[in-house]
Amino acid sequence: VNLQERRLIFVTGKGGVGKTTVAAALARQAAASGRKVLLCEADRSGALCRVLGVPSLAFDPSPIRSNVVGAAAGRLHACSIDTEASLRQYVKLYLRLPVITKLTPIAKTLDFVATAAPGVREILTVGKVCHEVRTGGYDLVVVDAPSTGHALSLLTVARTIHDAVPAGPLRGQTTWMLDILNDEARAGVVVVTTPEELPVTETTEFITKMRDDIARSGTGTPIAGIVINRLVAEPFTRTDAVRFAALASAPPAEAVRVVAAAQLLVELRDLAVANLGLLPADVPQLVLPEIHGDNALATVDALVAHLDQELS
Ligand SMILES: Nc1ncnc2c1ncn2[C@@H]1O[C@H](COP(=O)(O)OP(=O)(O)OP(=O)(O)O)[C@@H](O)[C@H]1O
Ligand SMILES: [Mg+2]
Repeated sequence: VNLQERRLIFVTGKGGVGKTTVAAALARQAAASGRKVLLCEADRSGALCRVLGVPSLAFDPSPIRSNVVGAAAGRLHACSIDTEASLRQYVKLYLRLPVITKLTPIAKTLDFVATAAPGVREILTVGKVCHEVRTGGYDLVVVDAPSTGHALSLLTVARTIHDAVPAGPLRGQTTWMLDILNDEARAGVVVVTTPEELPVTETTEFITKMRDDIARSGTGTPIAGIVINRLVAEPFTRTDAVRFAALASAPPAEAVRVVAAAQLLVELRDLAVANLGLLPADVPQLVLPEIHGDNALATVDALVAHLDQELS
């Protein structure tokens, strides 16, 4: 995966595959290597703070002041996108209505509008992301995006609105957003998958849909790559594998269960590799290992160290 030149990365994938973990690892590794980075939580799950070592995240980006890798130099920033705050900011910045804070039932209005008009929440989220890309002075903005089903509408809503609105301020807004989102060299989608059948199928379907959409419309955010997360290590070296095959064909009585357990590990790894064979072959891949441990923060630490070796 060539991520070094991108300045905007959306991280998506099936639920639970490690989107938040991978987004945090990518952002922290980039910050540790000298880039000014913003990590945005776009799925309102509240999961990002755990992997950044902070108690909470605000709507306005702020520097992460914990001692996690990447934060120490003050280059790592994060925010959580809240659509109501996003709407307030939009109204203030672009519609120039200073009285907006006095319109208290804005949350209710937003709920009403968002329910009535599909895409409102998405455009507010993606609008905030683009606003930060444009004005924040970051070298890289990483978005912990919703899972694949929802990510598609997030990634296409700006163009849908652009095409639906003939002229006027809204069209102007979506024009600069599209310049950012569809910048082939600098924006990209990273799809995270584990080496299991369902996430792999979902990844392949998502990439097909994205590509079909780009082919149909002529523009869109390109697929930057697939992150294969949680791949178990190959259990044996080649020499060990030969020894093991001999052992497994006639296991000594006292080691039958040990051999069976090792056999299971070999089969799991083979299955993982077979599943990965179903991914589209022309998309760059980055492999991240299964990290042993029980702590989400320590998992990200280990992945940052791994990325550091892989990307440098
Ligand atoms: N490479 C890894 N090795 C071990 N554990 C991992 C790895 N990647 C992620 N995990 C663990 O898997 C769990 C799910 O990860 P994460 O929250 O990042 O997934 P997600 O895709 O963001 O989930 P959701 O769809 O709920 O947003 C977490 O407990 C995380 O620590
Ligand atoms: Mg998540």
